[in-house]
Amino acid sequence: MALKFQFFPERPNVTSALAIEKINIFKSIINNTSTQFFYTFNRQELEVTSKNVYQKFKNRKVFVHIGIGGSSLGPEMMVNALQKNDTRFIFINNIDPEEIYSQMESLANVELKDCLFYFVSKSGGTAETLAALAIITQLFEARGVRPSEYKDFFVFATDPVKSELLTLSKEWDITTLEVPSDVGGRFTALTPVGFLPALFAGMDLDAYLKGAKDLQADLLSEDGKKNELVAAAEFLYNLKQSKQISQTVFMPYSSKLRAFSFWFTQLWAESLGKKKNKKGEVVNVGFTPIVGYGATDQHSQVQLFMEGPNDKAFIIIEVENFAKDFSLRSVLSSNNLQKLSTFNLSQLMKAEMEGTIKALRENGRHLIHLKIAKNDEYHLGQMILFFESLTALMGDYLMIDPFDQPGVEAGKIYAFEFLNQL
Ligand code: PA5
Repeated sequence: MALKFQFFPERPNVTSALAIEKINIFKSIINNTSTQFFYTFNRQELEVTSKNVYQKFKNRKVFVHIGIGGSSLGPEMMVNALQKNDTRFIFINNIDPEEIYSQMESLANVELKDCLFYFVSKSGGTAETLAALAIITQLFEARGVRPSEYKDFFVFATDPVKSELLTLSKEWDITTLEVPSDVGGRFTALTPVGFLPALFAGMDLDAYLKGAKDLQADLLSEDGKKNELVAAAEFLYNLKQSKQISQTVFMPYSSKLRAFSFWFTQLWAESLGKKKNKKGEVVNVGFTPIVGYGATDQHSQVQLFMEGPNDKAFIIIEVENFAKDFSLRSVLSSNNLQKLSTFNLSQLMKAEMEGTIKALRENGRHLIHLKIAKNDEYHLGQMILFFESLTALMGDYLMIDPFDQPGVEAGKIYAFEFLNQL
């Protein structure tokens, strides 16, 4: 496996018997016909259709991605991590009128023929995404574009069986990609939801998928010494049970992977934070994710992480080789500058990360140190599948269903009640 793990203070003892037991459980989760996140990206037609849509619209310079939650966080994470070209991305992922005003304003001098609007909604009925659709159709109206012409500017991604977007796509002949019915929104980064923005960002989709595919066998390994999926799940679950540690700080030492922390946050929180277990008993469980990134957070949250309550586990991600680097040589004579002058910027980053890990350990903190050789498509594909798998397996440890989100329904119903009273 290209993901290298170290656990502090120590890796849990995963015997072969334990590995086999947990992998059998994991297999039953991923083989369930309604939770296919582990295998969906093996469906080649999803890749091929995304590439065909890219070919059709590839001259577009502005890619406007409209979606929320799992329909946006994956694409944002991928584009932020690995964009290789100068396609302009606009993510409409909220209903803040001031922000959307600025986003629409930023299109004022852009010709619509240079833009592609990618509407992503698995259900096709999400209020925030439909609100953005309404606003964008007003923009088109103002520019004299009729609904019959939307097909030249819009692409939809939605459930292929039942969705309002699907109905609209048929009515207006809009190119539509599949969000597989058997994959939940927050598990869709390895589907057309992520594929199309990745292609517009100039990413190597084949390498991204190869990374994920190459990891599948490792995640299913029955060798307890090698199976890092079971080791990580055991590590975090044991901390929760024995030390009441139920907060997870996710901290890549990389600005480009900062959006990965936000993607992980949704995956971890929405999947594992549950009131009832599978037997229907009230348990109110979950792990609270905390977004961090190094080295910047060393001047922000790290004071708390070191000396505040010892109620957090840390997942620290190291990029071993940065694609770019700088010498810190300087002609100026300040003492502190001269101390740095024989090093490179990446060495300073590494030193700060190692220093923080050592200090966290000395303070009795618990952490997983995950190293990737490079921030590239191959490793990104592996990390996505690893954390999706960890989330799914952790759901079994907590005895809850990680694939639903009943807790957000009441708020939606009350919002519409409120709206109707206005
Ligand atoms: O993970 C999930 O299921 C959610 O966060 C959804 O992605 C989010 O609610 C958006 O749903 P939809 O894609 O149906 O618009």
